[in-house]
Amino acid sequence: MKDILQKLIRPHYADMAGYVSAGMNSGKNEPLVLMNANENHFVLPELEGYNFYPEPQPPKLLERMGQAYGVKPSQIVATRGADEALSLLTKVFCEPHEDAIVIHGPTFGMYAVNANAAPVKIIDVPLIKKDNDFSLDVEGIIHAALNKNNKVKMMYLCNPNNPTGTVFPKADILKIINAVKDDCIVILDEAYAECSKAGSMVKELQTYPNLLILRTLSKAYSLAGVRIGACLCDDEDFILFMQQKIMDAYPLPRPSIEAAMIALAPENAAQIKENIQKSLVERDRLKEYFENSNLVSKVYASDANFLLVEIIPDIKASDIYQYCADKGFIFRDFSHTQETKNCLRIAPALPDQNTKLMEVLDNYQ
Ligand SMILES: Cc1ncc(COP(=O)(O)O)c(C=O)c1O
Repeated sequence: MKDILQKLIRPHYADMAGYVSAGMNSGKNEPLVLMNANENHFVLPELEGYNFYPEPQPPKLLERMGQAYGVKPSQIVATRGADEALSLLTKVFCEPHEDAIVIHGPTFGMYAVNANAAPVKIIDVPLIKKDNDFSLDVEGIIHAALNKNNKVKMMYLCNPNNPTGTVFPKADILKIINAVKDDCIVILDEAYAECSKAGSMVKELQTYPNLLILRTLSKAYSLAGVRIGACLCDDEDFILFMQQKIMDAYPLPRPSIEAAMIALAPENAAQIKENIQKSLVERDRLKEYFENSNLVSKVYASDANFLLVEIIPDIKASDIYQYCADKGFIFRDFSHTQETKNCLRIAPALPDQNTKLMEVLDNYQ
């Protein structure tokens, strides 16, 4: 395994054995009669197959993910959503009560939840806010990560960022990864990469052994209910370590694997792309509406599939939230956080529903 990964993984894992799952075919004859995993062979006919545990990391799924993300199957850990990867990586690198992580608030809330659960310290180097955009405090992040007193093991860069929608310049991200390359893991969360013109930085994996990239089928592939994501890493030994020592025994449910295989099938690629495009057209339609709405003071630039909208100072964002909720439209209220004061985050729905929302907002008084 690459030095930086070896150095930062919590030391006790070195001597720990992982779980050896059942279901391995060590015999010569097909078909198999599986009597090794305490499964029930009597099953409702319509659920046949679901009575057996799934493959922990189905090779065909890894192959399809590899094609979609531009890496080898051996460079992928398939997880229960990117969320599971966040929690696993915290477990792998962060020594409870000792280590720290760096985030750039406002950003995805689960980074802090995992750190607080460990618990490890969170060092927040806030984004710099300018006009209708946010940028990374590159020097601040590097400084926080390299300050030995902080004991920073990993940092999250979320690109495009949730909840702001910001896509950060590649040069800024590379500067950070490079500056901390001997000291800190950079988890680049690309949950919304397919929505962004900037795309993925997956090609940088081979240059930077301290870089891990997270992807998900929840957004661009419209499979939030299926809970499949991925952690990508150049180092195949690290992938095996994650799969064999860190993950649960059978982490991916069979129905989820089946749905993911359909969404990632080459014959569906064009339709998937079209669905992303359609949702971005709707995002832009809502953006134009909000830019011309007298309820809204600012619409932040977004390269993701949602908008961060600031409500004018005379009106409380929470009032707009409640008014729309009463009419059946649910947003995310970010108005209580300093950097997103009086802001709501809104992801477009279907065209008719977005039109209806505009009518509802037109009637706000
Ligand atoms: C930036 C970011 N990362 C990760 C996730 C979690 O993704 P998943 O649904 O794959 O767990 C989300 C979900 O909203 C997100 O916004």
